[in-house]
Amino acid sequence: MKFLLGELCLCLVVTLSLSLPRPRTKISSGADSPEPTIPGSPDRCDGLGFDAAVLDEVGTPLYFRDAFVWKGFHGTAKLINSTWPQLPSHLDAAFRMHHSNDPAHHDRTFFFKGNQVWQYHGSTLEGTFLIRDKFPGIPDNLDGAIGCFQGDCVKDSVLFSKGDTMYVLDLSVKTVKERSWQGLRGCSALMQWVDRYYCFKGINFTRFNPSSGEVPAGYPKDARDYFFKCEGRGHWSGNTTTDRNIFNICSNVSFDEFDEDELGRMYAFRSNWYFRLDAKQRGWHPWPLSSAWPSLHGKINGVFSWNNNMYFIQGSQLYIYKAEARYTLIEGYPKPVRDELGISSSDVDATFICPGTSELYIIMGNHMQMVNLQHSPRVLGNGIRIGHSKVDGAMCNGQGIFVFVGTQYYRYNSTSELSSWKNTPAPRSIKQDFLHCPHQVPASHHH
Ligand SMILES: *[C@@H]1O[C@H](CO)[C@@H](O)[C@H](O)[C@H]1NC(C)=O
Ligand SMILES: *[C@@H]1O[C@H](CO)[C@@H](O)[C@H](O)[C@H]1NC(C)=O
Ligand SMILES: *[C@@H]1O[C@H](CO)[C@@H](O)[C@H](O)[C@H]1NC(C)=O
Ligand SMILES: *[C@@H]1O[C@H](CO)[C@@H](O)[C@H](O)[C@H]1NC(C)=O
Ligand SMILES: *[C@@H]1O[C@H](CO)[C@@H](O)[C@H](O)[C@H]1NC(C)=O
Repeated sequence: MKFLLGELCLCLVVTLSLSLPRPRTKISSGADSPEPTIPGSPDRCDGLGFDAAVLDEVGTPLYFRDAFVWKGFHGTAKLINSTWPQLPSHLDAAFRMHHSNDPAHHDRTFFFKGNQVWQYHGSTLEGTFLIRDKFPGIPDNLDGAIGCFQGDCVKDSVLFSKGDTMYVLDLSVKTVKERSWQGLRGCSALMQWVDRYYCFKGINFTRFNPSSGEVPAGYPKDARDYFFKCEGRGHWSGNTTTDRNIFNICSNVSFDEFDEDELGRMYAFRSNWYFRLDAKQRGWHPWPLSSAWPSLHGKINGVFSWNNNMYFIQGSQLYIYKAEARYTLIEGYPKPVRDELGISSSDVDATFICPGTSELYIIMGNHMQMVNLQHSPRVLGNGIRIGHSKVDGAMCNGQGIFVFVGTQYYRYNSTSELSSWKNTPAPRSIKQDFLHCPHQVPASHHH
């Protein structure tokens, strides 16, 4: 879902607030252990789609069908009423509100069925209303609903789909506009994922622009290849072991680089793919680089974020993207790394820059060199020896400097600590601390 990757509104906030204190601890240990299946519960991979979808407060997608809800990309269905006791089954639609200047509605989830709407704060019911009272101008018996906040739409708004019509509620002036967007007729559910908007028609989905209704080429696609983990499916499900190991975030394949941008988005890069690591939105699947960074294809050598831009070194080329809600390639790029940074890039193993500084560190073999990005022309400083001979990636954030080697990483408090390499810190597990991979337990351990 990177093509999927949405929930900018809610999630940007979640991202900013949740992503700062880090490194995170491991996920709840039960995450990947087999769960009991409730008799009569549906199979998310059966191709019948779902009634409604919404992201929870930490950005996990929830998919509702009949009396059941699937939480996240895989796992068995739970009864809706075990989390939301007052909700009926067969919901029509659901969305999450982000409205910081309206505390009574901020961060609430609204569930729709028939002519009613249920307002929840977490799992606490705050009220049941008639749709016509709570959202004047919005019809009953909706098909889908989604919020569009904080710059994704010009005005904070909520989109409701019913039949061939999209009802766009402007939250500031409380007006409703009806749209009949080609390609978005008959959306049975609407959902966001990281910063993209999706219309589902049964199991098929289409990405769309929430302001213009435009649908990019290449849709519809099947949700089972993107939103659900289904046996033998998925655009990541290559048919060689190599492919599978690249696509499996928890495999032992090393990463090419790591980066956290200034909006708190953290990424791991591997081959032509990236994984999102922050704010519990990581999902479990990779996305092609070009789906987030247009024109970027293939393995990268270095990545760093500076001055609201994200920089990629790939081979001899430097790509610079403006880092806003989305990433846009700055005009004129890529350009030769040699001209831009004064380095011949073929040797670059990793790059990092610490927040609030303009000192870019470039790791090549067991040497590290510094370029001050504020100086012009940019001059590569003298090499400093480091205590690692082969580094895959490096990253610096408020928690320190992280040097990634294979499946392990080393944390340093400062560049001087990194250069006084006689004190190489103890290696730690990338999988455990960054990727939330389940601990490997012997199969016999499970009941
Ligand atoms: C929850 O929903 C299921 C399925 O509709 C129903 O059988 C069960 O009685 C409900 N439980 C409660 C506590 O309402
Ligand atoms: C989903 O898409 C496939 C092919 O793109 C099509 O054959 C199928 O009818 C679609 N299903 C629905 C429910 O729209
Ligand atoms: C398996 O690999 C072949 C050749 O690379 C490719 O054409 C085919 O689409 C792949 N199958 C799947 C399921 O990815
Ligand atoms: C990764 O390597 C470790 C240690 O060599 C091994 O125990 C584990 O099974 C490997 N995991 C995978 C997914 O290959
Ligand atoms: C790095 O910082 C941590 C916590 O701030 C501290 O416990 C540790 O001793 C420091 N390491 C070194 C080598 O100074």
